[in-house]
Amino acid sequence: MMLGTGIVLLALLSWVESAESPCVSATPGLPGIPGIPGRDGRDGQQGAKGDRGAPAGSTVGALKGEKGNRGPTGPMGKNGPKGPPGPPGEKGEFGLQGDNGVPGNHKRQYQSAFTMMRKTSQYPDKDKPIIFHTPITNDHGDYNISTGRFVCRVAGLYYFVYHASHRSNLCVTLKVDNEQKASFCDHMFNEQQVTSGGVLVQLIKGQEVWLSVNDYNGMIGIENGDSVFSGFLVFPN
Ligand SMILES: *[C@@H]1O[C@H](CO)[C@@H](O)[C@H](O)[C@H]1NC(C)=O
Repeated sequence: MMLGTGIVLLALLSWVESAESPCVSATPGLPGIPGIPGRDGRDGQQGAKGDRGAPAGSTVGALKGEKGNRGPTGPMGKNGPKGPPGPPGEKGEFGLQGDNGVPGNHKRQYQSAFTMMRKTSQYPDKDKPIIFHTPITNDHGDYNISTGRFVCRVAGLYYFVYHASHRSNLCVTLKVDNEQKASFCDHMFNEQQVTSGGVLVQLIKGQEVWLSVNDYNGMIGIENGDSVFSGFLVFPN
């Protein structure tokens, strides 16, 4: 009973609604105001790869900048290493002819001669070169006055000789470079005597010759009692 009543009511209501539209005439409403904008959409997918760019540095590339100003001069650099010697220069011109020379004497270079005097009443020191200070002849200075030695300048055969006045026993030795070549001794029988000795020796350049005494050293050089030492080249080699 109750259910039947409800169905009837519903049917009644449906009828009222459907009957209302054709019967009522009404004007349309105004458009509503626009809504607020929606939110941003999501990111799109990655795009396709672009074309290849122009090569760097080529004229097609970026524009070249303007030329800059010249910079200040830097400090001077160090000297570089010495270069190799250059080629020899050209030959110079002939010089003027010189004056004539003085006439030569080829024999002069083969001369050697001296005579030296010993002027003192003092006896010479033993075992040392006897020094004959005073030259009679010593043109080339081959006899050295400060050492008492003859120095051979021209190789060859030489003759050496001495004449010595003495007032006491005297032994004179001739030496060549410290080697004894000859020795002459004389004992006193008078107040004053003269003794002598001479030797030929072969010398090479630079050898030295001198006289010396041992304990018998009574050699003097006084007025009327000379002592002299001489030497000269006989034959050059
Ligand atoms: C004499 O000898 C000394 C010493 O060896 C030397 O200095 C001097 O130059 C020589 N004198 C001469 C004229 O050769």
